[in-house]
Amino acid sequence: MKIVVSGSIAFDYLMRFPGRFRDHLIPDKLDRISVSFLVETLTRERGGSGANIAFNLALLGERPILMATAGEDFAEYRAWLEQHGVDTSAVRDISGVYTASFFANTDVENNQIGSFYTGAMAYAKGYRLAEALPVRPDLVVISPNDPTAMSELAEECHQTGVPFLFDPSQQVIWLDADFLVHGIERCHLLVVNEYEWEMIAKKTGLTLDRLTAVGKTVIVTHGGEGSRIYAGGERFDIPVCPVTRVVDPTGVGDAYRAGLLKGIASGFGWDLCGRIGSVAAAYVLEQQGTQNHHYTLPAFVARFRTVFDDEGALDRWLSVPEGA
Ligand SMILES: Nc1ncnc2c1ncn2[C@@H]1O[C@H](COP(=O)(O)OP(=O)(O)OP(=O)(O)O)[C@@H](O)[C@H]1O
Ligand SMILES: [Mg+2]
Repeated sequence: MKIVVSGSIAFDYLMRFPGRFRDHLIPDKLDRISVSFLVETLTRERGGSGANIAFNLALLGERPILMATAGEDFAEYRAWLEQHGVDTSAVRDISGVYTASFFANTDVENNQIGSFYTGAMAYAKGYRLAEALPVRPDLVVISPNDPTAMSELAEECHQTGVPFLFDPSQQVIWLDADFLVHGIERCHLLVVNEYEWEMIAKKTGLTLDRLTAVGKTVIVTHGGEGSRIYAGGERFDIPVCPVTRVVDPTGVGDAYRAGLLKGIASGFGWDLCGRIGSVAAAYVLEQQGTQNHHYTLPAFVARFRTVFDDEGALDRWLSVPEGA
């Protein structure tokens, strides 16, 4: 199955301040802030929803095509993704800017001061699927990116009859009802977490019943409580995969989506697709960052079978070479 994953590519620059921000802010001088925090640790993590989903799909043996825009600092990241099996030929290099970057400083009380630099992501608009690849994909993922780019791609998929998974994620919080309705009306699958679903319902007045009645599949993730898949008039309750330790929840949603997509690409039923998502998410929870975990397909299947019963369905992943 030819899957195109569109969405952001970003770096996360994460700092830890070994003190308390509030000890350095003077309440009656907030109109003249000039503070500098001396930090002892800085890590740079590879991220961005598009890249995360594609990375996880590649670990699962697919060869997803990442459609995105990146900046002058992307060469090493591109090599990393390629090395793990992501097709980056549709990642457009934008000269003169850096890749989107999130800079966050966290103090000992877990208060955070952050800035998000959009950089090359702001150039995603105007980049059409027809330009990104010469052949028609089987499925497109529209994950968080420049909002105009997301709407344009939803429209292009709709016009050309290419099914897509709509993953508005954090954009749900700050984008208006028109943007959400535009994407939801055109998508085949909608995947959101429970908070995002509540926001969508509140902003748009849409209900799960109405969406499923017109043939949409809606998937709502509930963190440590698992996920629910509403499809074909049925509800599938998907349990989580137990984890050995929760180190960092960032990126679980992206990994879950990749697992789900791998299930869809394999032609599996929803019960199985959801559980593959749960296991893919578990690996991310156990590591710092969103692309620092690793597994082989046989190891993934072995772990899956310690928790769930696939009735032998996953054997077919093991009989073909990875990436085939
Ligand atoms: N504590 C947990 N233990 C096991 N699995 C979990 C846990 N938290 C999340 N998951 C898995 O990951 C899936 C997605 O989680 P969640 O609903 O938190 O997504 P999210 O809020 O979009 O996350 P993020 O945006 O931070 O990546 C869940 O449905 C579940 O399968
Ligand atoms: Mg999320």
